[in-house]
Amino acid sequence: MLNFQTMLHNVSLFFLLLCIWLQQEVNCFVHQNSPPDSGYLRFTYEATDFSPAKAYDYIIIGGGTAGCPLAATLSESYSVLLLERGSSLNKSVLYESNVFQNILAANDNDSPVQTFVSEDGLQNARARILGGGSMINGGFYSRADDYFYDNAGIEWDMGAVERAYEWVENSIVTRPGRLNRFQTSFFNGLLESGVVPDNGFTFDHVRGTKIGGSTFNDSGIRHGAVELLNNANPENLDVLVHAMVDRVIFSTSDPLAAVGVAYHDSNGKYHIVHVRTNGEVILSAGAIGSPQLLLLSGLGPTSNLTSLNIPVVRDHPFIGQFMADNPRTGVNILLRDSITDLGLRVAGITESGPYIESFTVAPNTPLTSIIPFVGSVAIFNSSVQIIGGKITRPKSTGSLHLLSASNVTVGPSVRFNYYNHTEDVNECWNAVEVIRKLLATPTMEEYKFGGQNFEFLGLPLPEESSDYETIASFCRDTLSTFWHIHGGCLPNKVVDSNLKVIGVDSLRVVDASTFFNSPGTNPQATTMMLGRYIGIKMLEERAASQGHPFLEYI
Ligand SMILES: Cc1cc2nc3c(=O)[nH]c(=O)nc-3n(C[C@H](O)[C@H](O)[C@H](O)COP(=O)(O)OP(=O)(O)OC[C@H]3O[C@@H](n4cnc5c(N)ncnc54)[C@H](O)[C@@H]3O)c2cc1C
Ligand SMILES: *[C@@H]1O[C@H](CO)[C@@H](O)[C@H](O)[C@H]1NC(C)=O
Ligand SMILES: *[C@@H]1O[C@H](CO)[C@@H](O)[C@H](O)[C@H]1NC(C)=O
Ligand SMILES: *[C@@H]1O[C@H](CO)[C@@H](O)[C@H](O)[C@H]1NC(C)=O
Ligand SMILES: *[C@@H]1O[C@H](CO)[C@@H](O)[C@H](O)[C@H]1NC(C)=O
Ligand SMILES: *[C@@H]1O[C@H](CO)[C@@H](O)[C@H](O)[C@H]1NC(C)=O
Ligand SMILES: *[C@@H]1O[C@H](CO)[C@@H](O)[C@H](O)[C@H]1NC(C)=O
Repeated sequence: MLNFQTMLHNVSLFFLLLCIWLQQEVNCFVHQNSPPDSGYLRFTYEATDFSPAKAYDYIIIGGGTAGCPLAATLSESYSVLLLERGSSLNKSVLYESNVFQNILAANDNDSPVQTFVSEDGLQNARARILGGGSMINGGFYSRADDYFYDNAGIEWDMGAVERAYEWVENSIVTRPGRLNRFQTSFFNGLLESGVVPDNGFTFDHVRGTKIGGSTFNDSGIRHGAVELLNNANPENLDVLVHAMVDRVIFSTSDPLAAVGVAYHDSNGKYHIVHVRTNGEVILSAGAIGSPQLLLLSGLGPTSNLTSLNIPVVRDHPFIGQFMADNPRTGVNILLRDSITDLGLRVAGITESGPYIESFTVAPNTPLTSIIPFVGSVAIFNSSVQIIGGKITRPKSTGSLHLLSASNVTVGPSVRFNYYNHTEDVNECWNAVEVIRKLLATPTMEEYKFGGQNFEFLGLPLPEESSDYETIASFCRDTLSTFWHIHGGCLPNKVVDSNLKVIGVDSLRVVDASTFFNSPGTNPQATTMMLGRYIGIKMLEERAASQGHPFLEYI
């Protein structure tokens, strides 16, 4: 049996000590609001203002969560061009954890978030900004699980994986020194409801309740993948924003190889850049962007390409297939006041499967983009707390197809087939039962109104004695997303174990489109690690081919 009082005491003591210790370097309790170091701005240009070199060793498409660490790493020894369709940072909008959900509602041509509705009817979001998803997300930072390493289709060098994570963590990840009021209750409530053991703070994926890392620091200021560009060799890296890549260009004679890319700037002017001998084009355009670009470039299922009049460069039946998104299920409770969010910092990794996480929606935030089934309401005077169970390894997958055969600005259409498999509904059922126990804990009492009941936004949990059909309806009626989209360019189907596109030289994919499932509780840690990891592997590979070893500098 857990002694609740002792545990609470230990948790507060832990934070107090951590804070005292951290005080050496940071101030735990003072809210500061200055933007992070912007060293990368020295080599970041508007595409309209920049004439690229004729050729680079590496051209990376997409300055996102994987693309930034990859570009920084390759620039250590080679010339790199990084092309991002979005803008560079808008500090006032992006930096505060407390308002991160607000940006999900924006949707003009250049907003950091591009919303879209999948064929399933659910509103979803893609990043469109230098730094990618890491600039618009909930900030939770948690490493991958063993199941992921064992099944990812990559032969990992675990020492190099560890060093790649550390490289990321030393630059932009906070080991939380504090939790907000609800995250503290959530941590305690999960333990009381049996999501044990108490793992305290850890980056690792372990069963039980844990505090993870965060890319929001303890003042609620975001640090994203864009700052990993500060680790680049400035002499070797050109970063272009508002550079929309239209397609990859291939050799016209054997062997089939990527030789460059075509992109256009915000004036609609087209540019062509080539890669040097032994160089590569790398797609890091995300789980929607990378398959879309490969299809537009003539790689994909022959019949689909032909029906769109796209000249077939090579048949690739699995490009755009196995698209997945993890459903979120749970409840949303109204709080009596407004609390400051510091991003997601606590996760329950349950024995029955689902991961339970919670985040605060600030007053005055349009809820449509976060809890679509609640409709277009906004709560003006208090926060809303989302308590969500993540369906961890959805069996249901779908596919992506082009809506325009020539215009990359027209996003593709995608279907995820949420809850198509009964296993996914059963995991949702498990999530419902864990959340039911959580809501019944003594710790959660204080969030009831008048000590009586929770005030739910949207549906309350179904009755305890529910049958499968009732639960399945609840899961479908409350369908939401954690925005952990993956798939479309899977290893052994589209890319090989080094993430090189099968049958094409000098072309790789490095981003969440290569994930067969969403790693860890949340994918950004693994996505950034992957960018660094593959970058190091590429440097090693080239050094070896030139007859000298590559010494990794940490
Ligand atoms: C609202 C939200 C909350 C989330 N919360 C968390 C969380 O708390 N913790 C966590 O771990 N994960 C979270 N995630 C998921 C995580 O952020 C993503 O899985 C991850 O960022 C994906 O990285 P990526 O490199 O695959 O793609 P991205 O980071 O999306 O990068 C792709 C980049 O390519 C660019 N691009 C696309 N097409 C082109 C083109 N044709 N030309 C030029 N550039 C192009 C895009 O603009 C983008 O910047 C969240 C995601 C969202 C949207
Ligand atoms: C958070 O980051 C900002 C910007 O870099 C910095 O000014 C502030 O001191 C940081 N806060 C903490 C607690 O580290
Ligand atoms: C940042 O965003 C705000 C709000 O959308 C806008 O008013 C401002 O002009 C933007 N700044 C830059 C530099 O883009
Ligand atoms: C918030 O608004 C609701 C409805 O308008 C009201 O009943 C409630 O008392 C308000 N709460 C606070 C803390 O002002
Ligand atoms: C190819 O066409 C089939 C049948 O119309 C469709 O189901 C599939 O999603 C398409 N795939 C792509 C990649 O366009
Ligand atoms: C591509 O599509 C976008 C969005 O619909 C549109 O604004 C643009 O004019 C199109 N470009 C071309 C070259 O047709
Ligand atoms: C799953 O998808 C298939 C194909 O679209 C469909 O025939 C089937 O009815 C779906 N099953 C469920 C449980 O939704």
